[in-house]
Amino acid sequence: MQRMLNVGVIGCGNISAAYLKAAPKVGNFNIAACADIDAPRARAKAAEFNVPRACTVEELLAADDIHIVLNLTVPGAHADIARRALAAGKHTYCEKPLAVNTADGQGVLELARRNNLCVGCAPDTFLGGGIQTARKLLDAGLIGQVVGATANMMCHGHESWHPDPAFYYQSGGGPMFDMGPYYLTAMVNLLGPMRRVAGLARVSFPERLITSEPKSGTRIAVETPTHIAGLLEFASGAIGTITTSFDVWHASVPRIEIYGSEGSMRVPDPNTFSGPVEVRLRGETQWKTMPLEFPENARGIGLVDMAAAIAENRPLRASGELAFHVLAAMEAMLETPKSGAYAELPTANRPTALPAGLPEWQV
Ligand SMILES: NC(=O)c1ccc[n+]([C@@H]2O[C@H](COP(=O)([O-])OP(=O)(O)OC[C@H]3O[C@@H](n4cnc5c(N)ncnc54)[C@H](O)[C@@H]3O)[C@@H](O)[C@H]2O)c1
Repeated sequence: MQRMLNVGVIGCGNISAAYLKAAPKVGNFNIAACADIDAPRARAKAAEFNVPRACTVEELLAADDIHIVLNLTVPGAHADIARRALAAGKHTYCEKPLAVNTADGQGVLELARRNNLCVGCAPDTFLGGGIQTARKLLDAGLIGQVVGATANMMCHGHESWHPDPAFYYQSGGGPMFDMGPYYLTAMVNLLGPMRRVAGLARVSFPERLITSEPKSGTRIAVETPTHIAGLLEFASGAIGTITTSFDVWHASVPRIEIYGSEGSMRVPDPNTFSGPVEVRLRGETQWKTMPLEFPENARGIGLVDMAAAIAENRPLRASGELAFHVLAAMEAMLETPKSGAYAELPTANRPTALPAGLPEWQV
């Protein structure tokens, strides 16, 4: 049986509950400690989820019994916390995005390489039953040679529900950095790495009004584009488009659709772990819902895979390199509107598909 690795959580906000809930179900890591710059938050999460200790960030980084730092801070703090974890000799797994710019992301990966440590990064939804089923069907050639794909994430922002939504409108936020990782990671998992991208971007509403509690009535100045459209060329030759927006009230375009020489596939929402996967082959009059061939899994499966990869000394699937490839694409779609040029991307390996027949939470 695999040794249990001890995980220390830094950042005990909104998303931490998903990881803390998953931890008792997995077989290869424990949450041993949690920390936050807001100490009462860390104490409250420790009490709610039976985490053995709440401590300061410094104490957690200095603790000998912590093997992996799970970085659930806000995007602007991701690279700093990752570098500090790696400097303290710990592997680290970060919520998305890897960093808010490629220079910081590169620094994290270089430090990990120098210190012979692992960097993993969300999203891990591509390890869910829906997208793994889509991948298996694509790899089996069900819709033939892939011609192109489209991805669309459109909504009107997060200020109506998130308790502290300002970071979504600051540099490193916006719909591309917030939601692009789900869509781009899913597409790289399905179609392989991208070769080059270009984008157009705008701010449609320079100010946002928070209507969620506890900050209802507070205004946020928008510092980053909130409607971004991109063109993606994959190394396979497939052509993709992506639109991410916090400026759209209603839309009826697909989340992700893939077009092949023999038919088309509707991919499930990449911000979920489940289906449906729908296929319509040439000559067919209806879309067919395909049975899911993998367990659904949930947020945390990427960290399970990283703990297994460390134990087995093999590449991890939700890797820092994959997240860096996606980060470079997102940054380029925000930068190329200024130059009008395409940006060539650093490449990444397509993550290995999950084997068939595994139970939930196994990789
Ligand atoms: N909320 C969601 O539904 C959701 C879903 C998926 C991914 N994410 C990602 O998870 C991350 C966290 O999002 P959230 O919604 O939980 O945000 P949040 O603001 O609710 O929580 C972030 C926590 O990190 C703490 N923090 C910030 N900087 C820190 C630092 N330097 N050191 C220690 N603690 C620090 C804050 O005090 C806060 O408690 C983001 O990267 C986000 O993209 C969020």
